[in-house]
Amino acid sequence: MPVLETPPTVELHLHIEGTLEPELIVALAERNGVTLPYAGVEELRARYDFTDLQSFLDLYYDNMAVLRTAADFTLLAETYLRRAAAGGVRHAEIFFDPQAHLVRGVALAEVVTGLAEGLRRGEDAGITSTLIACFLRDRPAEEACEVLEQLVALDAPIVGIGLDSTEVGNPPAKFVDVFARAKELGLHRVAHAGEEGGPECVAEALDLLGAERIDHGVRALQDPALMARLVAERVPLTVCPLSNVRLKGVETLADHPLPALLDTGALVTINSDDPAYFGGYADDNLLAVADTFGLSDHQLADLARNAVVASFLPADRRRALL
Ligand code: HPA
Ligand code: ZN
Repeated sequence: MPVLETPPTVELHLHIEGTLEPELIVALAERNGVTLPYAGVEELRARYDFTDLQSFLDLYYDNMAVLRTAADFTLLAETYLRRAAAGGVRHAEIFFDPQAHLVRGVALAEVVTGLAEGLRRGEDAGITSTLIACFLRDRPAEEACEVLEQLVALDAPIVGIGLDSTEVGNPPAKFVDVFARAKELGLHRVAHAGEEGGPECVAEALDLLGAERIDHGVRALQDPALMARLVAERVPLTVCPLSNVRLKGVETLADHPLPALLDTGALVTINSDDPAYFGGYADDNLLAVADTFGLSDHQLADLARNAVVASFLPADRRRALL
């Protein structure tokens, strides 16, 4: 683990299933009697050479086969939260993918109660966290609506909903109903947009879904008017630099548009997305961009402050973290 040189921060773009490290995959496979299609950790790691978002998602969903019980989800969340806390994260707003587990025959109650216990254990390690249920944009919109009602029936401790998975070909417009229902329920709303999709996806997420934060959003830069709107409306962008490199959104970190985004004055935050797959947790991402772009301590502190401002924390907790 790198020596901590980054300020305490908040993580806003983190898929809990993307924290499934190869060692944990192998351990859970053994515990649950799941046969893996590779010999071990090394052979698994060799598959982490992604060409685009879909090539990652295929492995990400396959590897979830080892997550079966509430105890598995507790262990997953607790392991992430301890690692994040060690890297200076004080609060995390955590995505999970209910449909990815339901389609494998894992009951939603197992997922939700397991994660909730993991979050509670995180507090013992000095990190608070909340849950955001993400809907898979490559699955039917009606299913998203049904799953949201199941979460409500379970009284799942979620603070919001999000939208993830395959972006191209699955525009925000497809999910107007589930986002409208979430608004009715008083839930926060966020959406992945502008990762592989163009600026029009970002605009749709704002206009049609009422997204309060845009996850990724880097391609909004292609449309100066949209970028000006994001800045004027203080819409946070949860940027994930190492993810963008590993999924070939940019060739190298030096090619990442982070400096251009910062120049616009946008409310940019730095996050890890799927740290087990993309080579780094929140502190690793912050250190990598600090190194590559020569960011000052002052700029790093601004990024950390942006994340507090962009969070869904109550005002008293924000003040304590600022
Ligand atoms: N993009 C879209 N969907 C995802 C991602 C991502 O980076 N990670 C997990 N699901
Ligand atoms: Zn993501």
